[in-house]
Amino acid sequence: MGDDVKRWLNGEGEGFLTKVGVKKGQVLVDFGCGAGNYTIPVAKIVGKEGKIFAVDKDREVLAQLMQMARSLDLENVVPVETLKELKNYLQNEPVDVILLYDVLHYMETEKRREVYKEIYEILKIGGLLSVYPKHCKSDEPLWNFSEMKLETIMKEIESANFCFEQQIFNKLIHDDKYDKGIILNFAKVNRK
Ligand SMILES: C[S@@+](CC[C@H](N)C(=O)[O-])C[C@H]1O[C@@H](n2cnc3c(N)ncnc32)[C@H](O)[C@@H]1O
Repeated sequence: MGDDVKRWLNGEGEGFLTKVGVKKGQVLVDFGCGAGNYTIPVAKIVGKEGKIFAVDKDREVLAQLMQMARSLDLENVVPVETLKELKNYLQNEPVDVILLYDVLHYMETEKRREVYKEIYEILKIGGLLSVYPKHCKSDEPLWNFSEMKLETIMKEIESANFCFEQQIFNKLIHDDKYDKGIILNFAKVNRK
């Protein structure tokens, strides 16, 4: 593990996610969690009364994440491979916050719409959808996001019944290095 990730996991990540709006006792979903750079700090913030469902299609990164969670005695991390499987876990448990961090560029428009629809169903009304739209047109463009401007991404998410609330420009972790990035916070609103 590099020095940046160590510092992030030793406290800076918790400071950042608290600023984003994560609170003790909450239930979260980290969709596209990877090896857990955001999952681990969230698990520390929400504590024993809270829970974080870590969703990733890649079994290997989930195994890596769970190894780290166990080594830190974090018992509130639940690994999940798909949103369908997540729904079975949740039953009717309301979700307070969903993170979509550095993951949307993996998906084409149709797939993103499908994901917004599915997360809409599990997030409580007023709940927070926090997005780190890395790799859009203005920020190391890549894959499905390479031609998308930030405003277009915001409109796309708003059209899925999430209301834009706040933009946070902050130091954060990208892969294994510190970076400066934009976080977009939305609230779930009733369907139009
Ligand atoms: C670049 S990593 C970001 C990891 C983490 N969110 C972060 O910001 O450090 C993106 C992750 O999303 C996962 N992913 C991409 N599409 C997915 C999908 N449709 N369902 C679940 N996981 C997905 C990938 O397997 C990968 O681990």
